[in-house]
Amino acid sequence: MTQTSSHSIPSYADIQSIVAQDFAIMDKQVFGNLNSKVQLVMSVSQHVIDAGGKRMRPLITLLCSRLCADIQSQPAMHLAAITEMLHTATLVHDDVIDESGLRRGKPTANATWDNATAVLVGDYLIARAFNLLVDFNSLPLLKLFSDGTCDIAEGEVLQLQHQHNPAATEDDYMRIIDGKTSRLFMMATQGVAILHDKPEFMDAFAKFGQHFGNAFQIIDDVLDYSGDSAVMGKNLGDDLAEGKPTLPTIKALSLLKDSNPTSYDQLRIAVQTGKTSNVQALIDLVQQSGALSYCRERALEETRLAQEALKQLPVSQDSPYLQGLWQLTELASARLL
Ligand code: IPE
Ligand code: IPE
Ligand code: MG
Ligand code: MG
Repeated sequence: MTQTSSHSIPSYADIQSIVAQDFAIMDKQVFGNLNSKVQLVMSVSQHVIDAGGKRMRPLITLLCSRLCADIQSQPAMHLAAITEMLHTATLVHDDVIDESGLRRGKPTANATWDNATAVLVGDYLIARAFNLLVDFNSLPLLKLFSDGTCDIAEGEVLQLQHQHNPAATEDDYMRIIDGKTSRLFMMATQGVAILHDKPEFMDAFAKFGQHFGNAFQIIDDVLDYSGDSAVMGKNLGDDLAEGKPTLPTIKALSLLKDSNPTSYDQLRIAVQTGKTSNVQALIDLVQQSGALSYCRERALEETRLAQEALKQLPVSQDSPYLQGLWQLTELASARLL
């Protein structure tokens, strides 16, 4: 395999261009598939969808589809757009739960309208996604997506249950992100194997989605402590301010417990109460604890497992689509540098 070294990581646009036409058609369908009679539904959806977003899950679907059959597949583009609708719905809901004001560089739906509007329009997006899924006439596809959507909701609820819990463990965290994030990545890949009736791709697709999803969320959580709000298009430092024990905090707490009881208490109380007069001081504390390098290692390990899954696919390792998926994992990890 011609593996991409860290010196030659392509841009996201380069990876998109591997499936440029499919991507452009899919992109129009994300909003184009909505046909609500209610103007407010359309305005709110357009606000969030037009704000952009990387469209990473549909890009994965399109690359996987080309791996299964190198044709322009209408069903795959349609499924990719549906996946992005579901993703958008989870973000609209997530911003209500997290009380976030900024998403994709624009004010969130909850900030622009209100919580009730955002929740209901998020519900509409999920309902419409399933409405469109029914047209595939595929019970296995419907089962994958309905099971997956339950798991996503459970992941978010599990996270809520652990809010303000400084005793949350790395296992708890992995269960949370497995649901709220990785499951959708798995739907984006496994759905393609069902669509093309290629069961021989299923196992490697599942592993790729699982591990790349894990890596992606761990990286996102690290960037909440070390990233740039302008680049990310969302407010950072929110996790700690909300008392959300993500991997950086969980690891910082375990590292500080014996080495620095004063800092440990400060951080523990901040998670417990979600109230802190100086978020920056706590961010510094997490950074100094060494927790972020542990998280980076974990993210790289998950990336490596995702790449292992790509090696198991029953296709030529030189396929440009397989290379595209590989480069996507490299690009996501490079955000840590
Ligand atoms: C954000 O996902 C939610 C996480 C799983 C961290 P993305 O970073 O893919 O968000 P958009 O779609 O590009 O806005
Ligand atoms: C990701 O959770 C949202 C979902 C997967 C539903 P986060 O709360 O970490 O995502 P951001 O940081 O708001 O994008
Ligand atoms: Mg959030
Ligand atoms: Mg959240």
